[in-house]
Amino acid sequence: MLLPQILGRNNSIMDDTKSKMLTQAREYEKKAINELINTQRPSFHVSSPVGWFNDPNGFSLYNEEYHLFFQYHPYSTLWGPMHWGHIKTTDFIKWQMIPTALAPDQSYDEAGCFSGTAIEADGKHVLMYTGVKETIMPNNSKEIRQTQCIAIGDGIDYEKLECNPVIEGKLIPEGSSLEDFRDPKIWKDGELYYALVANRSEDGSGQLMLYKSADLRQWETCSILARCNNEYGRMWECPDFFKLEEKDVLIISPQDMKAKKLEFHNGNGNVYFIGQYDNSDYSFQKETEGVLDYGLDFYAPQTLLTMDGRRIMIAWMQTWDNYLTPSHFTWSGMMTLPRELVLKNGKIYQNPVRELESYRTNKVQYDNQELNGVVELSGIQGRELDLEVEVLAGDYQSFQIKFAGDGEVYTSIEYNSRSKVLTFDRKYSGIVRDVICERQMQVLSDNNYIKLRILLDKYSVELFVNDGEKVMTSLYYTKLEADKIQFVVDGTAIANIVKYDITVD
Ligand code: FRU
Repeated sequence: MLLPQILGRNNSIMDDTKSKMLTQAREYEKKAINELINTQRPSFHVSSPVGWFNDPNGFSLYNEEYHLFFQYHPYSTLWGPMHWGHIKTTDFIKWQMIPTALAPDQSYDEAGCFSGTAIEADGKHVLMYTGVKETIMPNNSKEIRQTQCIAIGDGIDYEKLECNPVIEGKLIPEGSSLEDFRDPKIWKDGELYYALVANRSEDGSGQLMLYKSADLRQWETCSILARCNNEYGRMWECPDFFKLEEKDVLIISPQDMKAKKLEFHNGNGNVYFIGQYDNSDYSFQKETEGVLDYGLDFYAPQTLLTMDGRRIMIAWMQTWDNYLTPSHFTWSGMMTLPRELVLKNGKIYQNPVRELESYRTNKVQYDNQELNGVVELSGIQGRELDLEVEVLAGDYQSFQIKFAGDGEVYTSIEYNSRSKVLTFDRKYSGIVRDVICERQMQVLSDNNYIKLRILLDKYSVELFVNDGEKVMTSLYYTKLEADKIQFVVDGTAIANIVKYDITVD
C-alpha cells in the first residue's frame, strides 16, 4: 500500500533549481493524499497516490532500496501531461511515497515526460526518459518530436542534464518515425551504458534501436536490435532486455495486435522473445516467443534484478482500451504484484514475489476436499487474499471458482477439462459498460490435474496456473461487500485448498 506520508526532503540536491511545475505537483499530491487517507485502495498492490497513472517507469535498485516511478497525471483520473511519480520499497509489498520526480517543465519535454528506466551509476540514480515536444505548424498541423533525456538524482530530487535531449532524431535511420521514438531501457555493461529505444521503421511497424555511451551524454548507434516486420502488432512500446539464466530475454508491449487464436488478443498486447544476444555485432537471435499475461489488464511491464539475484517484473494492471475506473474514485491505476521470473521448459514462469508470504494471515485449509455441484467452504471468502486450489483429480467437465460474489454478482474463473481452456469472466461483476469481459487461455492438464494460485486485492485478480506457467490478470470494480467464494463443479473433483488473508498494516 502507498503510505499517505511523504518522505522528508533532507539532503536535497536541487532546492534552488526545481521548477514551478514540479513544486506544484508535489504540493498538490501532498495535500490531496492527506485528504484521502480513508479511500478504499488495494492493500498489497501499488495504486496511484492521486489522479491517473499508467506505465511503471525506472523500476530499479538504488542505495539498497527498490525504486518505482510511474507515468503520472496527479490532477485528474484521466491521462494528461506526463510527470514521473515516485515510490520505493525494501520488500515489494509495503511502499513509501516520495515526491513527484519529474514534471514536463523543459522545452524538449513540455508535452510530457514519457516512459523510461533507471540505473544506479557512481552512487547516483540515473533516469532515462522520453521527452515529448509538440509544435503547432503554420498550417495548424501538430509536429510531435520524441527524444531521449536524462535526469540524475539522489533518490528524491532529480536534475535534468543541460545537454538534454541526449538521443534525437539524427540517430535514427532515414525514414523512421521522429514521432514514435520512446521508452528507453538503460543498462550498463562493463564501462559502457546501453539504451534500447522503441521506434517505428519506414514501413510503419516497430523496431528497437540500440545505442551506447561512455558518459551518458554522447550516444552512438549500435544496431537495430529487433524489427517487428508487421508481425507482432505495429509500434512496440516499452522494451525491456535482460539476461535470464543462460538466455537473453526481450519484452515488448505492442500496439495494434491482431488476435491469434488464444495466444494474442486484439489491441495492446505483451510478448516476450527468448534468444541470444551477441555483443560483438549487437544482434539478437530470437529462439522462442511467448505471452506474459493472458488477462484483460496487463501492459508495459518492466523488470529489475534484486540484491539476491532474482529478476522481478511489475506491470501496469490495465491497458489503454480498458478504462473502468469508477467516477467517484480520486485515483486511477494499479500495478500488478511484482513477480519473480524464471526460465523453465523454454518458457518464462512467473510467481508472486516470495515476500508476500510474510503478510499471510488466517490460514484456512481443506485437504482432499470433494467438490461437486455448488460448494461454499467455511472460512474461504474475502477480497484480499492468497488462495491456492490444487485440483488433484476428478471426473468433471467444468471446474469453476466464483469470487467477489454477492447474490447475482460474481466474477469467475472456469476450467473446461475437455477443451482444456480456462476462461476468466467478469460479465456479472456489476459492470454496466459495454466492454470486453472475457479472456481465455489454453491450459493443458493430465488427468484433470490443475493448480491455481489466485491473488485477490479488492479490485483485481491475478491467477497463476500450474506454478506460474501461465498468468492471467484482470480488474473488476465490484462493491467491496461482495466477498463470497463458491466452487461450482460439473461432476466431481478432489482438491487441496489453502486460503490466507493478506494483511498489510
Ligand atoms: C505505454 C505508453 C508509452 C508512453 C507512455 C505515455 O503505455 O504509451 O509508450 O511512453 O505510455 O504515457
